[in-house]
Amino acid sequence: MIGNPIGHTKSPMIHGSFAEATGQAIDYRAIEGSLKCFADEVHAFRKAGGRGMNVTAPFKLQAYALATERLERAELTGATNALKFDGDRIVADNFDGVGLTNDIQRNLGFPLKGARMLVIGAGGAVRGALLPFLAQQPTLVVLANRTETKAIDLAKQFAGQGHVQGCGYDELAGERFDIVINGTSASLKGELPPLPAETLRGAKLAYELAYGKGLTPFLRLAQHAGVPKLADGVGMLVEQAAEAFLWWRGVRPDTRGVIDRMTIPLV
Ligand code: ATR
Repeated sequence: MIGNPIGHTKSPMIHGSFAEATGQAIDYRAIEGSLKCFADEVHAFRKAGGRGMNVTAPFKLQAYALATERLERAELTGATNALKFDGDRIVADNFDGVGLTNDIQRNLGFPLKGARMLVIGAGGAVRGALLPFLAQQPTLVVLANRTETKAIDLAKQFAGQGHVQGCGYDELAGERFDIVINGTSASLKGELPPLPAETLRGAKLAYELAYGKGLTPFLRLAQHAGVPKLADGVGMLVEQAAEAFLWWRGVRPDTRGVIDRMTIPLV
């Protein structure tokens, strides 16, 4: 795993648990990448025998640019969170979206097919997560963002993949959704996006992409609005790791135990 800063990463622990459970011998460590020499560091890691690498902020776009081959999910999002090294080949994929989709559908039990979904935010996190939702055929995905034009542009970019619309927060008044996902970085700063509170009324699931922050302002708003199920991104984190592990090692680890161990009660 390469990122900067990287001190907070849970990925070595997650991959270590997967390796132990599946009997795979791996050595997975955190590397604090240099902002200036990212490409050199990746090449040095490959030359030292590295077979694969997770990539996190701020390197997801640089890693994408460095790849010699981009699989469809990386291509369509323009970013990668996982590289595989095979001789001179550097193959890029992006498992963030499939991780989120698997968590919502398999772990939390909410089907996306036919759902009305609201996703707030239009930055890198949302861009990476969007595509696999659309493949599940929700009735509608609304992207709402503080800077409205970014949501509209992102919706246009994904228009060929499903029914997706972009707007500002004001336009949400009176709308109802089954699933509301907070993909903004507001929670990392303890802030609340200016979401009309009634937008959450009637929703069945409120999902915070960030993890380990407990009951964030967004989740608290959802709780007050009576949303029956609240979740943070811990399941997404573990599910995307499982997809990468499968890609690198050919074995899909079970995720339940790791998610349970990492879950912080949302109270
Ligand atoms: P990330 O990689 O985490 O997605 P990003 O690309 O910088 O980070 O995007 C951050 C997102 O959070 C953006 O959608 C941003 O809204 P703007 O595009 O209007 O800046 C959103 N965001 C951050 N803080 C916010 C806040 N306090 N209220 C609402 N939206 C916020």
